[in-house]
Amino acid sequence: MAGSDDRNRTRDRRRKKERRGDADRRRGADRRLEDGGRKVGDRRQTSKRRAGDRRSGRDRRDEAAWKPVVLDDAARGDLDDTALVAAAVDAREHARARFSNFKVGAALETSTGEVITGCNVENATYGLTICAERVALFKALSEGRDVFTRIAVVADTEEPTPPCGSCRQLLWEYCGDIEVILANLSEVTRRIRLSELLPLPFDARLLD
Ligand code: THU
Repeated sequence: MAGSDDRNRTRDRRRKKERRGDADRRRGADRRLEDGGRKVGDRRQTSKRRAGDRRSGRDRRDEAAWKPVVLDDAARGDLDDTALVAAAVDAREHARARFSNFKVGAALETSTGEVITGCNVENATYGLTICAERVALFKALSEGRDVFTRIAVVADTEEPTPPCGSCRQLLWEYCGDIEVILANLSEVTRRIRLSELLPLPFDARLLD
């Protein structure tokens, strides 16, 4: 019976959890974000750190794992918002957007101050289109980068162009609560945390 199957599954899950005791419930990607999102070898481990912003009063089940990584000045180097946005503006030039004519550029900053860019890539079936944000994210992940701090997204619109739902989900899962800087070709139109764009996320923590 479906009901007893469900009950058995719940019981199995509970037992599994009890066997694990109070061990860290987070998966690899989440655990990496321990200590404010830094991992061994990160430059910031050798200097004094600022704690990331902590959000409160929300359903953030494992807050510590998802707090934003804040760059210290050494890691940030000369890269201010303007430089990150400029990288996204440049990336936008490469957009393959012949179907929508809506070009987007993205620049993702790593915790060590590197910038990995992306642009939207459309195709004749439309549905296989991939957004600038995901191109930047996949490029970064495939090159071994895994701790991120900010993303700039640029489109030629007066109003902010925020990441679509799919991008929000993936950015959340791989970047945590990063800062999202939205800009057009001449100015920043909005700065927002990813947790504000995706307030009640589904992620790996729910699968444990
Ligand atoms: N697009 C992005 O690349 N990023 C966004 O944040 C919004 C939408 C792209 C997808 C598609 O190529 C075009 O913009 C129109 O939706």
